[in-house]
Amino acid sequence: MTDRFANPLLYRPGRPLPARVAVIGAGTIGPDIGYYLLSAIPGLELVLVDVDPDALHAASARIEAYVEKGLARDKVTPEQARTVREGLVTTLDYEAIAGADWVLEAATENLELKRDIFARIESIVGDTTLITSNTSSLPAERLFSGLTHPGRSTVTHFFAPAFQNPAVEVIDWSGADPATVEYLRWVFAATGKVPLVTADAVCFMLDRVFDNWCNEAGLMLTVATAPEIDGVAEEFVHAGPFFVLNLAHGNPIIVETNTLQAEVEGDHYRPAPVFGSVDSWLTFPPGGNPAAAPEVAAAVRDRLVGVLLSQSVDIIDREIGSRADLELGCVLALGFRRGPLVLMRNLGDTETERILDRLARERPGMPTPARPPEFYRTFRRHVLVDRVGDVVVLTIRRPQALNALDDEVNRELLEAIVEHEADPDVAGFVITGYGTRAFCAGADIDRFPSMLGDAAASEQYARDCSLLLTHLDSMDKPVVAAVNGMALGGGFELAMRCHGIVAVEDAWFQLPEVTLGIAPGIGALVVPYRRWPGAAARFVSMTRLGSRLAATEAAQLGVVDELVPHPDSLLETATARVHSLAGAVTPIPGGPVELPEWDEADLPEAMLAGLSPEVIAIIENAIRAAAAAETLGAALEVGYRAFAATACTEAARQRITEFVSR
Ligand code: COA
Repeated sequence: MTDRFANPLLYRPGRPLPARVAVIGAGTIGPDIGYYLLSAIPGLELVLVDVDPDALHAASARIEAYVEKGLARDKVTPEQARTVREGLVTTLDYEAIAGADWVLEAATENLELKRDIFARIESIVGDTTLITSNTSSLPAERLFSGLTHPGRSTVTHFFAPAFQNPAVEVIDWSGADPATVEYLRWVFAATGKVPLVTADAVCFMLDRVFDNWCNEAGLMLTVATAPEIDGVAEEFVHAGPFFVLNLAHGNPIIVETNTLQAEVEGDHYRPAPVFGSVDSWLTFPPGGNPAAAPEVAAAVRDRLVGVLLSQSVDIIDREIGSRADLELGCVLALGFRRGPLVLMRNLGDTETERILDRLARERPGMPTPARPPEFYRTFRRHVLVDRVGDVVVLTIRRPQALNALDDEVNRELLEAIVEHEADPDVAGFVITGYGTRAFCAGADIDRFPSMLGDAAASEQYARDCSLLLTHLDSMDKPVVAAVNGMALGGGFELAMRCHGIVAVEDAWFQLPEVTLGIAPGIGALVVPYRRWPGAAARFVSMTRLGSRLAATEAAQLGVVDELVPHPDSLLETATARVHSLAGAVTPIPGGPVELPEWDEADLPEAMLAGLSPEVIAIIENAIRAAAAAETLGAALEVGYRAFAATACTEAARQRITEFVSR
């Protein structure tokens, strides 16, 4: 694979977002892709083409239903609804694709049919119009090698439901111009998707995992029933393979894709014959499956885990996809609770080896690892590292939790900084969040329930989370936060500790902890009063009420150093800021600081919002005690203790339990 930025938004595209896109095929996924594009690209004209008028009517109705549901739930604004409705054109006439910037084929999985469609598309559109296919299995080489201008073509493989599921595989095949792949990655990342680059192997990356997981389940029907197998699988996925196959009417797909894999890679991939003779399965919703006898459950578990690990090591060994992309893709696209490599980490080497040995005995031919186990499980999972000249750009990529900070993200950020800090060719760092929605939604709330009511554990947690932040305090090389969207709680506290902050104009900051019944314990009770004393009153009010601070106001207060009107220039501006801060990093003042008086007039507002007076009092006392502390270190300790005190309140128990069980 070619060298490329890990964060697609670092790429400078040669053309803007598409203004006119044609989707060929109004089955299920075509309209869903169309709805995603219409929602994400304001002013887009989307031409949906099919040979069947009924399919087009159904597609329009489907998109209208999404709009109405979105409006009813306040997920879609009236303005967005208007642009979706106005932008959609349905037609039986292929000629209507003329003038499209991008034609996306989502027709039946049939090679000859698709090749005919591409030839026809090429006869209508210009030489630079992008042409992509949504095939889940057919290699790009086979699809596009007959085109006159194949460089503008590739596979862009979406996952159901395509308007919600962020994962999209973008295939880097030998005939594609590198700029085609990079532009598509950029378009996807700029419009809320998570593009995952894969090599041009049959079934690419994620369908190899999914199809073989399902196929193995089919083969195991000789020892267990479908609901029993689904029940075993639910340890690893949100819904078992048979339940999902029913939803997706997926039996013929398994026959098709596993036959294809068998033809190319060997008979061990042959589909389980049962998939050719059964339409649907008797299944129960997740959680409702009967338990198999223990020895049966163990055999099924070994085979399912075995095939999952076998496919994963094969994908990595053959460089079909990267470790971080495989891990994330399995979670985002396929509904795994955690990815296969973290599963491998958790199983340990001995158990992994046992399971893979058993698979090798029972399923000869299935891939086995080519490298030592640590290679598969030792990688950066959530932080992308890029070099832009002499600046290292660190991108938090955890889209499933709006880039929230868990222990691993904190550790990976710190390790990446330490790894590059001493390099004389590195001028400094930028920290940003993946995509355009969130810089970081704060500390991982899922981690909190385990420490509620335990003051010592909570205090230690806050101190541990702060290892990255106190390291930033000690640095001479500048670190700039490039705030690309919401920066909440711990995300804002991370930005505060960077030596400079640049933000897109529509970004916003918030300390919502009080709404969860806790105090923002890793710097927010301390740092603003030392760095931006003029904004102290605003910070007190934000902390007590959990109110939002728009990036524009933050810039007026001096908290944000520079605003950029458009996300496209954010990372460039942040990089330039690193250079302007070189040799000029100033430490956070250590001594006691003055605080403004605040009155209790806004407390009724807090009470109306259901906030806890007990928690607000802990927060206020901590702000005062931290301001009076003689050193920054002592002030930070006040914050850790305040977090611990609030973690033991009834308000925290209630609010956090509510969030987590939502
Ligand atoms: N920790 C863990 N997960 C988080 C998270 C956090 N801080 N913030 C968001 N997420 C997760 C959500 O649980 C959700 O996961 P799910 O799809 O598995 O349910 C996903 O990110 C998307 O968030 P969602 O709440 O569905 O998006 P939204 O647009 O409806 O709301 C927010 C966005 C930011 C308002 C909402 O997610 C929120 O309030 N997050 C908590 C922010 C916070 O209090 N941070 C401080 C923590 S100390």
